Amino acid sequence: MLDSTDFKVADLSLAEAGRHQIRLAEREMPGLMELREEYASTTPLAGARIAGSLHMTVQTAVLIETLVALGAEVRWASCNIFSTQDEAAAAVVVGSGTPEAPAGVPVFAWKGETLEEYWWAADKIFDFADGPNLILDDGGDATMYVLKGTEFEAAGGVPTAGAEDPEEYKVLLKQIAASIVAAPGRFAQLAAGIKGVSEETTTGVNRLYRLAEQDGLPFPAINVNDSVTKSKFDNRYGIRHSLPDGLNRATDVLIGGKIAVVIGYGDVGKGAAEALRGQGARVIVTEIDPICALQATMDGYQVDLLAEAAPQADIIITTTGNTRVVDVKVLQTLKPGAIIGNVGHFDDEIDLAGLSRLPGVEKIEIKPQVHEWSVPVPAEAGLGRDRTDFLVLSEGRLLNLGNATGHPSFVMSASFSNQVLAQIELWNAHDDYGNSVHRLAKELDEKVARLHLPALGAKLSELSKEQAEYIGVDVAGPYKPEHYRY
Ligand code: NAI
Repeated sequence: MLDSTDFKVADLSLAEAGRHQIRLAEREMPGLMELREEYASTTPLAGARIAGSLHMTVQTAVLIETLVALGAEVRWASCNIFSTQDEAAAAVVVGSGTPEAPAGVPVFAWKGETLEEYWWAADKIFDFADGPNLILDDGGDATMYVLKGTEFEAAGGVPTAGAEDPEEYKVLLKQIAASIVAAPGRFAQLAAGIKGVSEETTTGVNRLYRLAEQDGLPFPAINVNDSVTKSKFDNRYGIRHSLPDGLNRATDVLIGGKIAVVIGYGDVGKGAAEALRGQGARVIVTEIDPICALQATMDGYQVDLLAEAAPQADIIITTTGNTRVVDVKVLQTLKPGAIIGNVGHFDDEIDLAGLSRLPGVEKIEIKPQVHEWSVPVPAEAGLGRDRTDFLVLSEGRLLNLGNATGHPSFVMSASFSNQVLAQIELWNAHDDYGNSVHRLAKELDEKVARLHLPALGAKLSELSKEQAEYIGVDVAGPYKPEHYRY
């Protein structure tokens, strides 16, 4: 039975509503449901204690309950202060028991956390009596929390932030310091117990590769993002669905006929551009990579510089995973009434922190996660106005999760099937993985795709033995070499 003090969600009475949504999502998540059935008797995650940090949505609830069905103990927080669906969080805490007797999974997540609360919740996911032995991460914050904490602890001190450090970093250091003071040696113990991490997204994976190169990783990592059935589906088709959903719920502005600028034409950018064009917007793409820029032109988009595209844009969407791609100068040139939002992982793609320091800036809350910023325009911009005002969605954080409910279940089923397989690998075969970043075997990627075909009525053709030999593959796959790009 779950300790009634060992969770924190907005409102447990939402559990019933959450349970209904989870039940409907299960129908749309054939991969996860198949894995539950396949592994019901062998429970390959028995003994695993998973600290999870990933948007606490209805779809994530199905992931959590799949991990539990496979034998794992799980504790969970969201990886974003706005992305939790409170009814899903409540339902996971309650489990399938009654609201009076919580018997589910300890979740520490609610929509609209402060940064202090966010890092407090991140700390709570590691509070297993015997310590966690796996991390399931999205964006790398949980992994970074353990590694930073270990680094500071090993240096023999309680960290203090410098005056110049960004606000978010100061809050993180405060939580690490509190944790070191409360339980000296805790971080070293945590890091020693962890057998691996599976990482969900591009930004988190980039952080892991950099860590592995610079300081070395103390445990293996599986890059779930670059399973083909993750990034080529979730990042692209997921955003194609959830970006317009976020825009509509936030503003209900007609997208057709508008000029939309999509910054970045990677997997997420491709889905964003396609969605906006699908609604009739005239889409301009900006890119720094000549290959992606050329792809955008071949797909029929105008490719331009942001400084030239931004002043004419009605809608601007950042998708890069990079920092300050829209700087203060560009923000001051936006058209009155423009809408700007981000779907890359962190909130520094649009330099709202810089903008908020500009004298004369005002911010009005239209509703939660929708703000109108009124900003002075310098004369040298030559725009003939001294102020502009535009709408900012989700305060520059992932708008498809802050203003809507993220990607739909079916595409998340593919992503999360990869997560489950990665956790099984890390738990059962961790000795096969060195302390670096790995991808799942192509057989598993193909398995995930296979699990999703019947639900769509797709019939897969089979190779004959002769054909298989002719193209040099096995009849049962894998069908493509590692370097194939899909
Ligand atoms: P990607 O690496 O495929 O694409 C990013 C693109 O941005 C690249 O083509 C890069 O050349 C371009 N870029 C970088 N700096 C730029 C700049 N200054 N101006 C113009 N273009 C620039 O990465 P992917 O998979 O598309 O992910 C992008 C971000 O979205 C990541 O932060 C990822 O974690 C996040 N993500 C968000 C999701 C959501 O639900 N909102 C879902 C999946 C990923």
